[in-house]
Amino acid sequence: MGKREGFASSFGVLVAMAGSAVGLGNLWRFPYLVGTNGGAAFIIIYLACVLVLALPIMYSEFIIGRRSQSNVFGAYKKLAPDSKWCNVGFIYVLCSITIISFYSVVGGWTIDYFVKAATFQFSSASADQLSGMFANTVTSTASPLVYMLVFLGITALIVLAGVKNGIEKYSKIMMPLLFILVIVIAIRSVTLENSYAGIEFLFKPDFSKITAQTFLDALGQAFFSLSVGSGSILTYASYVSRKENIVKLSAQTAISDTMFAIVAGVAIMPAVFAFGISPSEGPGLVFVTLPYIFNQLPFGSFLAVLFFFALFIAAITSSISMLEVIVAYLDEEFKLKRRTSIVLSLILIATLGVFCSLSQGVMSDVKILGNSIFDLFDKSSANIMLPLGGLIAVIFVGWRMKKAEYADEITSGGLVKFSRTTVGIFYFFIKYIAPVVIATIVIRSLF
Ligand code: PHE
Repeated sequence: MGKREGFASSFGVLVAMAGSAVGLGNLWRFPYLVGTNGGAAFIIIYLACVLVLALPIMYSEFIIGRRSQSNVFGAYKKLAPDSKWCNVGFIYVLCSITIISFYSVVGGWTIDYFVKAATFQFSSASADQLSGMFANTVTSTASPLVYMLVFLGITALIVLAGVKNGIEKYSKIMMPLLFILVIVIAIRSVTLENSYAGIEFLFKPDFSKITAQTFLDALGQAFFSLSVGSGSILTYASYVSRKENIVKLSAQTAISDTMFAIVAGVAIMPAVFAFGISPSEGPGLVFVTLPYIFNQLPFGSFLAVLFFFALFIAAITSSISMLEVIVAYLDEEFKLKRRTSIVLSLILIATLGVFCSLSQGVMSDVKILGNSIFDLFDKSSANIMLPLGGLIAVIFVGWRMKKAEYADEITSGGLVKFSRTTVGIFYFFIKYIAPVVIATIVIRSLF
């Protein structure tokens, strides 16, 4: 490997970070979790998890990544030499592999639906037909695999082009476009007749629906959505220059991601209620509900094409951040060529992806711990691996690094001014609050 690459501009870093965070998590996973967990009460717990837990982890990953300028394994090796800390890198690599394996299956569905929309395949379908179409789409054997491979192929090409000419360049175009598309759809959704019940569902809490599982789901979703705990932030941060204000960048990333989730909720829930669909439809929600809405609207076919394109963009800018974790690790730790690292990663991911995809159809009888392979990958990564990866990052910054190192990084070597109180508060959250709360929620809900 030659000189290490880096992001070229502050805007580039921000769109890449936001690109990683904003994804299927916001547009596909968040709405159906809100739907199955009873609406506004879930959103409130979710927001608390973002603020109190995910954000301190994001700072920590930024600190570790930027300070070490290294991959998930090399980072801990550099910052804690002569210790066993570097082995935690495996958790991040494993987590990224697990997530991208099922994520690319859903990414494939988005391409499939984009093609369906562009060829008017659901233009006059009823709600039942659309449910059937979704079931068919995901349970088929061959076509989801082909779409998944296309999705992975595009991800790989962008990653192959590198940090500046691939990740940064494409995120700069795709993220603003995505934002405009989602806003347009949200406006259309809230102006539907009878959309009010959906707004109420989103913003009027009913705390009677809350259980321990709600907390775990909200925690997992906060981590999943912000991409924390998987090493993606850490890896991207390793390409960030010493001049950038990482506190501001983390906050901007978290705010954009949260805004996207809420806007996605506003785009989907009012329409769900307006058309009398059940909000607890589950993973099919965006794929069933939205085509139905588009069918009822003037220029609906056009909006449908736009939306599934947007969903695809959101997914791609996230999957590249997962692949980069694995590729940077192989590149730097095994001195492989970028191309070789990508091919090796793809073989592994595609193999696992095949099982995730088939577990929706011909392999649906195969259950591990009561879950299909797809659900197992989804739940174990969001609810166990991400919290674990996050926990490790905050413990490392809070307990292993020196406070002076932490302060040096937070202030970008004194370039960015923060009062001592602010620096102290962040530190308190990283050192005490985040580890204790994450450990409590995960342990309680596991047992
Ligand atoms: N944050 C992404 C999303 O919301 C998913 C993701 C998780 C990306 C972990 C990178 C790492 O879709």
